[in-house]
Amino acid sequence: MKPLSTVRFGFIGAGQIAYYAAEAVLRHPHARLVAIQDPHLERRTTLQKKHALEFAHEAVEELLANKSVDAVYIAVPNKFHIPLAIQALKAGKHVVLEKPFAMNAKEAAEAIAVAEEAGLVLFVGMNQRFTGDSQKIKQLVDEGVLGEIYHAKAWWRRRAGIPKLGTWFGSKEIAGGGSLYDIGVHMLDLCLWTINNFEPVSVVGATYTKFGNRGLGEGGWGLSDRVETAFDVDDFASAFIRFANGASVTLDTSWACHQAVSNSDNVEIFGTEGGATVRPARLFRGSAGLPATYEIVDEIKVNLKMPHQERFHNFINHLRGEEELCVTTHQALVVQKILDGIAESNRTGREVRLA
Ligand SMILES: NC(=O)c1ccc[n+]([C@@H]2O[C@H](COP(=O)([O-])OP(=O)(O)OC[C@H]3O[C@@H](n4cnc5c(N)ncnc54)[C@H](O)[C@@H]3O)[C@@H](O)[C@H]2O)c1
Repeated sequence: MKPLSTVRFGFIGAGQIAYYAAEAVLRHPHARLVAIQDPHLERRTTLQKKHALEFAHEAVEELLANKSVDAVYIAVPNKFHIPLAIQALKAGKHVVLEKPFAMNAKEAAEAIAVAEEAGLVLFVGMNQRFTGDSQKIKQLVDEGVLGEIYHAKAWWRRRAGIPKLGTWFGSKEIAGGGSLYDIGVHMLDLCLWTINNFEPVSVVGATYTKFGNRGLGEGGWGLSDRVETAFDVDDFASAFIRFANGASVTLDTSWACHQAVSNSDNVEIFGTEGGATVRPARLFRGSAGLPATYEIVDEIKVNLKMPHQERFHNFINHLRGEEELCVTTHQALVVQKILDGIAESNRTGREVRLA
């Protein structure tokens, strides 16, 4: 792949997350945002005006035919992620794809094959990996400071944080899943990346729909219009995952539940030589094993590998030939397989083998 000096972006989807993405792209000195595409006239025009974009397209075919665009960022309802990614790759564009990767691992694998065939970059933008805190803990794990990691707990639980009710977010047919696909995926990905373990062998899980279906628990995220679709996705899920080396991970996620705090999210890691949390980055260890003088390190000093702490900057720097991509398609596919496994385990009431 020939390095690009400037990366010119076209965005597919002018929803709420596109505003954050635009700011991030525009902060990079070697990136430009030139075009937006969204079938919704008002939303695409608002984003175009905000950043004085050269082009606002109604149809994706127009954006993909636009020679001023090197790469697209796809931020649309989940069902359209893979069809649009494949269309963009076939049109010769590099792709940043929002999470969740796909509706299922089969279609995710199809997109990976198309990207490989085309020699283009397909990057699932798992933004939680890029914070300074995430990178610090990842570095400690990689250096062996925590010893053997045998267990981790990942969770993101909101008390009343369902995206705008009546929109695509609550529709299984369009979103694929609820809290699990929306925020569970973030913490699962962050956990596997920090503990450096993408070899799951089995998963057992359960999902629940207890609030959104009663019109309760809305947090309000999302710009799409309410269409009064039925709410039939999970607003709570829990899973237990086993790995080839004997390690295990628990994942808990909710958009709505009765709990003391409005939001709680973290990854907690248990190793033979130390423990850690990611939000914030903290290290727990004894000076001479256990029990011993116990040390809690709040100010972890490391040289961050990605001081920019930004997924778009990693992607742009990669296209400029300066940085390795932080998120590989293989890792994103493994995360998707676990999500599929949780759904299947919920359906069947059984543990699902992943390898
Ligand atoms: N990384 C994160 O932290 C994060 C946060 C929020 C959302 N997301 C993801 O971003 C995506 C979009 O979420 P959002 O919150 O912006 O949703 P949103 O409902 O605010 O906006 C979705 C937009 O997509 C447009 N759209 C629908 N179909 C389209 C198509 N075929 N082509 C072009 N545009 C189309 C809609 O008109 C709408 O403007 C979702 O996949 C979501 O999971 C990621």
